[in-house]
Amino acid sequence: ARAQIGVTGLAVMGSNIARNFARHGHTVALHNRSIAKTDALIDKHGSEGDFVRTETIEEFIAALEKPRRVLIMVKAGDATDAVIGELADAMEEGDVIIDGGNSLYTDTIRREKEMSDRGLNFVGAGISGGEVGALEGPSIMPGGPKEAYDSLGPLLESISAHVDGTPCCTHIGPDGSGHFVKMVHNGIEYADMQLIGEAYDLLRKALDLPVDKIADVFREWNSSDLESYLIEITAEVLSQTDADTGKPLVDVIVDAAGQKGTGRWTVKSALDLGVPTTGIGEAVFSRALSSALDQRKAANGLESGTLGETPTDTDQFIDDIRSALYASKVVAYAQGFDQIAAGSKEYDWDLHPGAMATIWRGGCIIRAQFLNRIVEAYDENADLPSLLLAPYFRDAVEKAVDSWRRVVVTATQMGIPVPAFASSLSYYDALRADRLPAALTQGLRDYFGAHTYQRIDKEGTFHTLWSEGRTEVEA
Ligand code: 6PG
Repeated sequence: ARAQIGVTGLAVMGSNIARNFARHGHTVALHNRSIAKTDALIDKHGSEGDFVRTETIEEFIAALEKPRRVLIMVKAGDATDAVIGELADAMEEGDVIIDGGNSLYTDTIRREKEMSDRGLNFVGAGISGGEVGALEGPSIMPGGPKEAYDSLGPLLESISAHVDGTPCCTHIGPDGSGHFVKMVHNGIEYADMQLIGEAYDLLRKALDLPVDKIADVFREWNSSDLESYLIEITAEVLSQTDADTGKPLVDVIVDAAGQKGTGRWTVKSALDLGVPTTGIGEAVFSRALSSALDQRKAANGLESGTLGETPTDTDQFIDDIRSALYASKVVAYAQGFDQIAAGSKEYDWDLHPGAMATIWRGGCIIRAQFLNRIVEAYDENADLPSLLLAPYFRDAVEKAVDSWRRVVVTATQMGIPVPAFASSLSYYDALRADRLPAALTQGLRDYFGAHTYQRIDKEGTFHTLWSEGRTEVEA
């Protein structure tokens, strides 16, 4: 037995992670249900490092040094449970099973419990960065027992991305916390992409800019405080010309956004936790709306009402859009970090938001300069009531707010949908408001259902006898 790590499930992500381990000098045992994929990997990339080819689970397990470490890279759901079952039967106390898929964190909580009952260590690890990241350095979010991380951590850290010498991998917390954090990462990825989409749509429809010019705008924004992987690749996608038609590729792609489910999970969890993660919510709903093609077709001729004019100062409006994008992004991240804090509290995970921001600086899809500012914000004050209140972000958003309002007003007047920009601005306005109409909601609940209310001027719980003289009583 000489392999430090085994990888089972050798589709693209699995193969690339296995190669990444080998390239870093680790001996990697390979296993796949169909041996053809294993052979293909060794054929094409065998020279990159030290691989051990195995056919059966028994051979695979026997190839591993103890404690055995196996990374599962198969489809989330039933396939993952099946592989875990097979591995667990063949493994011994103290061995480590790592699930590197996009598993639902509640499944990970269940699996960790099942495995620990059998004396095995189970690590649910979120891995972000797509195919290239898997090969060249992803961001890794491993949960599970701390002892498992002691033996596994150095291995994972060696293949992760690094920023300023710091690995984009750290022990997140117990059981499902790694997959929970990866889920919120994906939700934020949805929000980022929705905001980029709204900015693009405004540049196109409000300002009538040609697509190649819009690509230039994003390229320019990528040297501002918006600098990030997603902004960078937006310029790339917008610059692509379709070979068949000579049109911008974006104009021949069907405008129905797909989703595999992690964004939806984030919103469901936000609802359960009672956290207003509105930015991610708008992003998920926008994808759903875009995909309702029949309904959209039927609604296509609906009256727009009188529409406003194109803004006269193009450069000013481009800059307004940039500010609106930035401010809305701050809101989306503030909400995402609130959700992480709420999850941490609910499940007793003791998560450190600054540590999450640190490992998201490189390797993952939402990697950005911006994350450094988040790290600093939590370094300064680990108990920030909201990221929006960190001095740096507060200042940035307060400077952006006039632009933000102009963008939402103009979009509304021109009939251009900006759900994420608008709802983020409303979130900001609600958060900073002195009084909210929730007082009226409480009054109504008390009227029809005797649900009671609290008063601003004295302790206690009260109810008004609405149909009996309308006097107030203590409940
Ligand atoms: C990542 C990505 C990755 C995947 C998403 C895409 O972090 O590397 O988030 O996990 O590309 O699942 O999600 P949708 O198909 O739902 O857009």
